[in-house]
Amino acid sequence: MTEVAQRSDYTFKFNKNIGRHGWLRLTPAYSVKLVQELVEETPRNAMILDPFSGTGTTGVCSAESGMHCHLFDINPFLIWFGNTKCAKFNESDLNKTKSRVYKLFPSLQDQANEENWVPPIHNIERWWCGHTLPILSGLRTLIEKEFGEPGECKYANLVWISFCRLIIETSSAAFNHVSMSFKGGVTRFEVKQIEKIFSDVLELIIDSAKYKFPGTASVFNADSREMPSIDNCTYDHVITSPPYPNRMSYIRELRPYMYWTKFLNEAKEAGQLDWKAIGGTWGTATSKLKEWCADNVTLPEELYTTCERISRCDNKNADLMGRYVHKYFHDMHLHFASLRGRLNAGAKLDYIVGNSTFYGIHVNSETLFEESLRMLGYQEINSRVVRKRNSKKELFEFCVTARWNG
Ligand SMILES: C[S@@+](CC[C@H](N)C(=O)[O-])C[C@H]1O[C@@H](n2cnc3c(N)ncnc32)[C@H](O)[C@@H]1O
Repeated sequence: MTEVAQRSDYTFKFNKNIGRHGWLRLTPAYSVKLVQELVEETPRNAMILDPFSGTGTTGVCSAESGMHCHLFDINPFLIWFGNTKCAKFNESDLNKTKSRVYKLFPSLQDQANEENWVPPIHNIERWWCGHTLPILSGLRTLIEKEFGEPGECKYANLVWISFCRLIIETSSAAFNHVSMSFKGGVTRFEVKQIEKIFSDVLELIIDSAKYKFPGTASVFNADSREMPSIDNCTYDHVITSPPYPNRMSYIRELRPYMYWTKFLNEAKEAGQLDWKAIGGTWGTATSKLKEWCADNVTLPEELYTTCERISRCDNKNADLMGRYVHKYFHDMHLHFASLRGRLNAGAKLDYIVGNSTFYGIHVNSETLFEESLRMLGYQEINSRVVRKRNSKKELFEFCVTARWNG
């Protein structure tokens, strides 16, 4: 399989500069190009579903193509962000929003000299220098006074998304890895520089919000292991990228945004939220995993042997990692089972997922998904490699497809 290319056009890198897709970065966002290709093959009057919305890529691609799409996620920040990204805006209100922001700038220096609210992020000086932080928190106070906290008003939400982008652009976070890390040093920004970055980002975001989608997309707060019914809707095409079984935590990745927007208020909430996430493993989610017991469901035979092999490895966390992999595929199996009740006969499934390794033991997500789907009565099941994920290890991204014939 080593001849498969790394295909950066099939990752977030391609997404960065393309309209709404580039608003905020989330490392595991999948490729717009790939989703566009999948949306294009959907019949025009079909209803699309993404049960793992993330940054709402499927919603935006569907709405851009004139299709209708429902999306689910359990992360309140991503639900808020996805809905803003998929919203329709009126040009004159967008321009008014911009003017209201520019009127805040003359007060920024004075506000920065006041005592302002600062998010309870652990070791915050590692992210922003002691000179920049009061300017950012002063700007946050001004935005909050003018627009209220992030919430219902979609125009105000654009300002908050611009603020999220600003805090990342001015932080020491580096995004050149699969997950976020630190560049190794904070940068000092002056008031004028902060104003410049913020207005550049705001212009970009407001400008791309002007485009009116021919279709519609909405993100709902729902756990995809128990698929809810939204207005009795049933779906024809599921296009999604669930978490991968690689211990990556979306809450961990998103914590700077989530703290600054108050979607996260204290560390223990992060662990609670991550426990709800399939494959979540951050903070208290890890200790809960030690107590976890599987539901009474039969899972693919390959899963039991893989978990057994991982558990027997010579490492103090081997047993925990065996459990982790077991729970991940157990939860995905529950999702595939519950999904059946929401599909129209003939519905197509496209799941983009990566494989992983634990202590050198391969976890073949694609064959495990295929087998779960087979056991649950899906048909026409197969998978193909989409791209190679990493130059060193044998990590690939697959598209697992299937059909539900009722
Ligand atoms: C790989 S990301 C999706 C990325 C997305 N395709 C994009 O382009 O941004 C997986 C998403 O699944 C969500 N998720 C995890 N467990 C879930 C669950 N039980 N129900 C619904 N969503 C869940 C996570 O919060 C995360 O946003």
